[in-house]
Parts: sequence; C-alpha cells; structure tokens
Amino acid sequence: MRLKDKVVIITGATSGIGKSLAMQVVAEGGKVLVHGIEKSDGEQVVSTLGNSASLCIADLNDQAAPNKIVAAAIAAFGKIDAVVNNAAIFERHKLPELTPESFARTITINLQSSLFLIKAALPHLLQTQGCVLNIGSINAYSGEPSLLAYSISKAGMQTMTRNLANTYGVDKVRFNLINPGWILTDREYADQIKRGLPQGWPETLGKINIPSGVMSTPEQLATACIYWLGDESRPFTGSIVDLEQFSIIGRNPEK
Ligand SMILES: NC(=O)c1ccc[n+]([C@@H]2O[C@H](COP(=O)([O-])OP(=O)(O)OC[C@H]3O[C@@H](n4cnc5c(N)ncnc54)[C@H](O)[C@@H]3O)[C@@H](O)[C@H]2O)c1
Repeated sequence: MRLKDKVVIITGATSGIGKSLAMQVVAEGGKVLVHGIEKSDGEQVVSTLGNSASLCIADLNDQAAPNKIVAAAIAAFGKIDAVVNNAAIFERHKLPELTPESFARTITINLQSSLFLIKAALPHLLQTQGCVLNIGSINAYSGEPSLLAYSISKAGMQTMTRNLANTYGVDKVRFNLINPGWILTDREYADQIKRGLPQGWPETLGKINIPSGVMSTPEQLATACIYWLGDESRPFTGSIVDLEQFSIIGRNPEK
C-alpha cells in the first residue's frame, strides 16, 4: 500500500491515463477525487472504485472549476495530499489554421486551469506537505507540427513545475512532471482513426515510432506516476521525467 490514506485529485480521470491512475491510486490504498467532464463515464469510474472515490464534474474552460474541484475533494475526504493535472485537449492546427479562440482554449484547459487548480489546492497541500504531479508531453520540447498550441501548453507546464518546485521546496510541497511519449489510450486510438490511420493501426507501426514493437499502455504510465505521488519519492522535486521508448533528447536514427 504505497499511498495508504492519501487523498489525490486527478483531473480528466474519466478516461485514458487519468482513469488508469485513479484505479491504481485506490489499489495502493489511496482515495481519489475523480474529476472529469463526461458525467456517465465518471459515474462508471467511481462506481467501480466504491467509497474510495468521489466524482466532480467541472469544465476546465470555466474559471470557477479549480475552486469547485478543491471544494469537492475537501467535502468528500477532508484533506488533499496530491493533485494530478492530467486533463487536456488535443486540437490540431498548424499556424495558418490556428485561431486566437482555439489557442486560448488549449492554453486555458491544458495550462491555466492546472495553475489555478494548484493555487486553489495550495493551502491544503501546505498542511499535508503534499505534492503536485503534472502530466505534460514529450511534445513540450518542440512537438508535432499540427500540435503547435498543445506543445506550447505542455512547455508552459514544465516551467510552471520548476518555478513552483523552487518556490515551495522549503515548505516541503513538491512539484514534478511526467512527459509521456506515445500511449495507446482509447482517445488516441480514435483520434488517429479520424486522421486517416486504418483500424488496428497500433499493430502496423514501425520500429522508429515503437522500438519495442508494442505501444506503451495507460497502465504502464500510471504505474510510473504512483512513485511520484507517494512519500517514497520525497524529497525530490522539480523533476521532469520523459517516459518514451527512446531518448527524447539527442535521438538521431541511422539514415
Ligand atoms: N496518449 C498519449 O499518447 C499522450 C502522450 C503524451 C501526453 N499525454 C497526456 O496524457 C494526459 C491524458 O491523456 P489521454 O491520452 O489519457 O487522453 P484522454 O482524452 O483520455 O484524457 C484527457 C481527459 O481530459 C478531459 N478533458 C478534456 N477537456 C476537458 C475540459 N474542458 N474540462 C474537463 N476535463 C476535460 C477529457 O474528458 C479526458 O477525460 C493528457 O495530459 C495528455 O496531454 C498523452
């Protein structure tokens, strides 16, 4: 039980990586405020998790969401030990098609809501000497051409993580970030079908994208998150951890 009695807020926990993490947090003895925007999906997740989970539906595009999420966690469990900023949108535009509205939506949901969720939770994290785990993306270092706004939002998350880690280290509140590589979530599968890949595309990928031959799973990513949420990772803070099947920095496949 690596997270016994820890109370963890996970945004976007009704699907994908967030859902897998919610399951693993409860399996490790923790309690989860499952946040999401899809009510029926959220109800399904919390009904599986029983008394160890509580649901909060809030649109992160709404500035009231961070306070609502923190209030829901306190009402359900009385304290907050950790916040996982996992929710995100994945709007694809290269620069000529990018509009101010789309850019603002991506920055608001992926970055600004994370910052203000941390702000709302901070008094509680100071009490528990808790931690924040931000879910970034390897796109933060540059990114796919059509993921311009998304990549910028994830780059901002990295600086936010390091800045807050340096500010709150003396208070023993820790801030770390995981940059997932390509993870086979249901959303990712569906998004790539919409972009024109054939049914069953994960089995057709070459070794440049997937050196091991098998795509990484949400469960594998969630397992790595558990370490950063528990006391066993104390006192480490300000860490940016890339989790991909190859090195992100300096890779130069043979031509
Ligand atoms: N799957 C990948 O390949 C991959 C790669 C790198 C990073 N990531 C990151 O992992 C995290 C989870 O992604 P995923 O692949 O599990 O996808 P996902 O779509 O299953 O998860 C994102 C969640 O965010 C929620 N969300 C979106 N907009 C929202 C809003 N306005 N208000 C509230 N909730 C909202 C969605 O409902 C969803 O539950 C994201 O931060 C993503 O950037 C994923």
